[in-house]
Amino acid sequence: MADPEPRFGDYYRQIYLRGLAGEQPAIPVDPAELERQAEQAMEPRAANYVYAGAGAGETMRANREAFRRRRIVPRMLRGVDSPDLTTQLLGRELAAPLLLAPIGAQSIVDPEGELASARAAAAVGVPMVASSAASHTLEQIADAGGPRWFQLYWPNDPELAASFVARAEAAGYEAIVVTVDTFIPGWKPRDLQQAWLPFLEGVGVANYFEDPVFRAGLERSPEDDVGAATGHFLGVQLNPSLSWDDLAWLRERTSLPILLKGILHPDDAREARARGVDGVIVSNHGGRQVDGSIASLEALPAVAEAVGAELAVLLDSGVRSGADAFKALALGADAVLLGRPYIWGLALAGEAGVEAVLRMLLGELELTLALSGHSSPAELDPSALAPETP
Ligand code: FNR
Repeated sequence: MADPEPRFGDYYRQIYLRGLAGEQPAIPVDPAELERQAEQAMEPRAANYVYAGAGAGETMRANREAFRRRRIVPRMLRGVDSPDLTTQLLGRELAAPLLLAPIGAQSIVDPEGELASARAAAAVGVPMVASSAASHTLEQIADAGGPRWFQLYWPNDPELAASFVARAEAAGYEAIVVTVDTFIPGWKPRDLQQAWLPFLEGVGVANYFEDPVFRAGLERSPEDDVGAATGHFLGVQLNPSLSWDDLAWLRERTSLPILLKGILHPDDAREARARGVDGVIVSNHGGRQVDGSIASLEALPAVAEAVGAELAVLLDSGVRSGADAFKALALGADAVLLGRPYIWGLALAGEAGVEAVLRMLLGELELTLALSGHSSPAELDPSALAPETP
């Protein structure tokens, strides 16, 4: 999908021009300030859910540390003024090497939730990865009209899994992202302390409650007996026995590209390739699953080295800025997924907030490429970075 504006890098000129009319950006430009203000703006239990990390938060911090330890080495006098962020990925053209990470239950921070995020993604021209656990159905999210991928929490009922995939295909989703690191939820003290999960109150279950296979498994409809429907959801949502052999079943059922999200070891990436998967997303789920696990940026080079020539390699967990995206692209990612920051934008200003967060990140990415002497993301390789600082 084409970029509706000439260059993402123009965004900062627009900000200064609006300043002449006395207007300042509606949400903080500084990611750390955005993170702080969004936490204040959210209902406390929603904030706990979004900001929670596994265990003592070591991996959540390690994700950020890993970005800080890598430094860019700009090159001069290369005559690059406005780089082109257009990216080829899995046979499609994206306006930029960026996607919105799948984040469930978004209506806990804004009633429009995923619908607002999807409209913002469509305006910018980057895909939204819609979560199985979205607060709106995948069909409603598709109505936003932008490029879209579907994230599958593989249910332990194969007919339900098949129904989700068929619905995603029918609604124009362009890839299936199987999240492999969350076959049971992680140990998250902030969630446990408040003893609250959105799903138990019927938020983040729309795809299930509206699904014909799911409904056929109920004695009474979710509208008549929400408690029984929620119980059924908890019974089928995740599949702890999922293994590599199951991927053949999915491969037979869809011609869409399949990506595995949550890969951290190069041998798992090789296994994915051997199983006919099209891409991997290097991710530790934003530090929400295994506390003490490797930072995703640390895991990236070995995965890219193992399969980067044949598979799409994407990364999330800890991306906060255009400079972060630059570093991941330099270390072998074809694109990055933005996670919590767009939820911060959603919490502060709905659809406009999400769009502003995306445009700020892409504006900074374009300037970072230009100022370091690169005319496109595809030009980046590890030589754009200094050796890791201790
Ligand atoms: C997530 N993530 C996630 N992943 C997924 O595959 N399906 C999902 O439904 C969710 N839901 C979800 C909710 C919340 C509140 C968060 C913070 C995260 C993980 C997400 O896709 C991504 O991997 C992380 O958000 C990346 O980490 P950062 O950059 O947000 O710290």
